[in-house]
Amino acid sequence: MQWPMRVLGIESSCDETAAAVVDEHGLVSSDVVASQIATHAPYGGVVPELASRAHLENVWHVISQALAEAGGIESIDAIAVTQGPGLVGALLVGLSAGKALAYARGLPLVGVDHLAGHLFAPFLQRDPSKPSPVPELPFVALLASGGHTALYEVHAHDRLTMLGQTRDDAAGEAFDKGAKILGLGYPGGPIVDRLAQHGSAERSSLPRPMLRKGSLEFSFSGLKTAIARHVELHGVPEGQALADLCAAYQGAIVEVLARKAIEACKLTHLPRLVLAGGVAANKGLRARAAALGAEHGVSVFVPPIASCTDNAAMIAYVGARSLAAGKRDDLSLAPYSRAAGLKRGKVVEPRSKA
Ligand code: KG4
Ligand code: ZN
Repeated sequence: MQWPMRVLGIESSCDETAAAVVDEHGLVSSDVVASQIATHAPYGGVVPELASRAHLENVWHVISQALAEAGGIESIDAIAVTQGPGLVGALLVGLSAGKALAYARGLPLVGVDHLAGHLFAPFLQRDPSKPSPVPELPFVALLASGGHTALYEVHAHDRLTMLGQTRDDAAGEAFDKGAKILGLGYPGGPIVDRLAQHGSAERSSLPRPMLRKGSLEFSFSGLKTAIARHVELHGVPEGQALADLCAAYQGAIVEVLARKAIEACKLTHLPRLVLAGGVAANKGLRARAAALGAEHGVSVFVPPIASCTDNAAMIAYVGARSLAAGKRDDLSLAPYSRAAGLKRGKVVEPRSKA
């Protein structure tokens, strides 16, 4: 195998079909994403069967483009493909494409956990002339996406300890459902983010759930109910009032996420925090985490937006780490997360206050 090793990553766990070529140092040669937003927007959420069909239509185009931009299949040493978690029908499309290509070209294949991909996104280097700072291991990571909201202690790509997670909705889901109630379109996170920048959070009061010291669990379903109730009582606001409500809604989600992430750093004595997942693209969260990090002596690492939302570069990078550690999967690789070899630790019980 030539060095540095170059890996083709394939991602199809939800509503983005993506392929990328990344080397073992995280240098991104190509990163192609075909979004299915237009397919799912009329339904206000991802429709699994439509997602599988769209992946089927897009997968070879996306792979061909990623390979063409990176110098062709001959320059690739291995293939990494998202194995889970995700929609099973959607995962199967990327897995089948990865296995077919690995078989045809005699390349090693490795399955990657989608969540590990998100957590290692800060290691991607998109511009060799401007290297981005990377966190030292171990670090604390807040993973907030459409399907997950959890805090992890990250020791290695295959050694994560979950510190706490949401009891109900994920943060991205809260953004999307809140936006749906306000009639804002899908996905709601970026729309709420944009409107919130022109709003004032103080004009409405919304609950900030589970903001108890010592607890690393989240709950966002009450917040969604609060905004539904607000709309029931006052109707859907317009203009400045809509921006204010978005600012209050986003402010409530962001405050809980940022405070708990810093709390996790304190409980684990790790002064390094990574923000990961689609919600890490949120401007309010990035700013609040940076401010709280500065206050509490925690270095906050936030990948560029293209690395926060679903992409295959993060999958290729974790694949390269797995391959470098000697991992290989055979062509029976199935769409199941645990089989990817992640050791999830015991959930740390929230410490009760004395
Ligand atoms: O990580 P991701 O691309 O896909 C999943 O694995 O779920 O995350 C998608 C989620 C969606 O819920 C979307 O609304 C949210 O990330 N999101 C945002 C922003 N950009 C994407 N939420 C808040 N603010 C944003 N700027
Ligand atoms: Zn994701």
